[in-house]
Amino acid sequence: AAEHKYEHIQLTTPRPGVALITLNRPKALNALFSPLINELNTCTSSLDRDTSISAIVLTGSPKAFAAGADIKEMAPKTFSDAYGHDFIESWSNITRIKKPVIGAVNGYALGGGCELAMMCDILYASKTATFGQPEIKLGILPGAGGTQRLAHAVGKAKAMHLILTGDNFSGEQAEQWGLVAKCFDDAEACVNGALDTAEKIAGYSKIAVKACKEAVNKSQDLGVREGVEYERRLFHGLFGSQDQKIGMEAFANKKKAEWTHS
Ligand code: CAA
Repeated sequence: AAEHKYEHIQLTTPRPGVALITLNRPKALNALFSPLINELNTCTSSLDRDTSISAIVLTGSPKAFAAGADIKEMAPKTFSDAYGHDFIESWSNITRIKKPVIGAVNGYALGGGCELAMMCDILYASKTATFGQPEIKLGILPGAGGTQRLAHAVGKAKAMHLILTGDNFSGEQAEQWGLVAKCFDDAEACVNGALDTAEKIAGYSKIAVKACKEAVNKSQDLGVREGVEYERRLFHGLFGSQDQKIGMEAFANKKKAEWTHS
């Protein structure tokens, strides 16, 4: 991956084809403020263009994935500051990345931190994780997609309860409710598990991975009939790829597929 110097995040490539982004604003428990989000957006969009990278892992520290939007940065904002400058809109840029993003949540994932986690394509957590949408306690609402993504993930009943009470929930609860795909015993196992998954995905055809991610994410926006039609278009399209021939011939010949990513 291209080596950039970032102040509030760290970028490494610990496995072949895998980039690891670590949110790194320890003094404020990775509270999300504009300079950090700008770096995250620069970094993820450059990784999306980087042909040596196939999957991205996003994590924080063992203490905090991110403790929310920076309350001190937000406090003085007026309506015209917020509306006029589309406050928070660019926070969802990460959802425009075409490569899979795997979130590994340890410690606090509150408010905007929980919302950022929910933007990831696959979400892992550990037993140390504390999720929550505490915005109600600050006199606001979750403004970075939380009301929508939490409701999609855990259903309206639980989402409404969590958002109106501001109660926290654990990594294990998040797994039981289907918000996270796996809950690990500790932070290290969680990040390693995310890297293992990213490395596995990096071993597949990039074309097929891109289509799978695109199709599954459409399920969040489209009705089932339109979603299935969308899926079928992508499915038909993949018969125009070399990797479809390579994958199926390798199966027939009992060989390992050597993907061309085309
Ligand atoms: N914004 C700004 N600073 C924050 C912060 C946040 N969201 N969360 C923590 N910090 C800062 C604290 O102010 C503190 O800084 P100082 O040392 O300069 O005082 C430092 O990080 C360490 O935090 P604590 O001393 O509070 O640590 P703790 O272990 O006692 O408590 C915590 C941890 C329970 C996470 C507590 O920090 C907390 O409740 N944080 C706020 C959580 C929150 O309300 N998040 C939602 C924000 S609103 C939002 O996100 C809007 C949206 O939808 C996008």
